Amino acid sequence: MSLVEDAARVRENAYAPYSRFKVGAAIRAGSGQVYLGVNVENAAYPEGTCAEAGAIAAMIAGGDTRIDEIAVIADAPRPVPPCGGCRQKLAEFAGGGVKVTLATTRGQAMETTVADLLPGAFAETDMA
Ligand code: THU
Repeated sequence: MSLVEDAARVRENAYAPYSRFKVGAAIRAGSGQVYLGVNVENAAYPEGTCAEAGAIAAMIAGGDTRIDEIAVIADAPRPVPPCGGCRQKLAEFAGGGVKVTLATTRGQAMETTVADLLPGAFAETDMA
């Protein structure tokens, strides 16, 4: 199964009663293991978490620390761009060249990279 298919499958479990906008994410980590995440919303809206953040949390809990590839999918008129916070989160755990596939359940897909999503990301080395 492709990473996009993994993301599409887990998207069904997204908890998005407020926006009704379900998102799924699948990360292939350095070990080869695939980690999944969905958006989880909350009645206190800012407490909600994105699918990408969920997949990163699963990856860290699973003992991996590096992202080799990630796919994100939603039911949208165009492949949904990850939010700014998720771009920063991805940059923490992925090299700039890491492939990011943004897909829709309507059959569209576009490929980009972590560096294209967030050029000049703030990093640990900036705090030296
Ligand atoms: N969302 C994600 O999970 N990932 C994205 O890349 C874009 C937005 C979620 C957050 C919120 O639950 C819903 O989509 C609408 O913003």
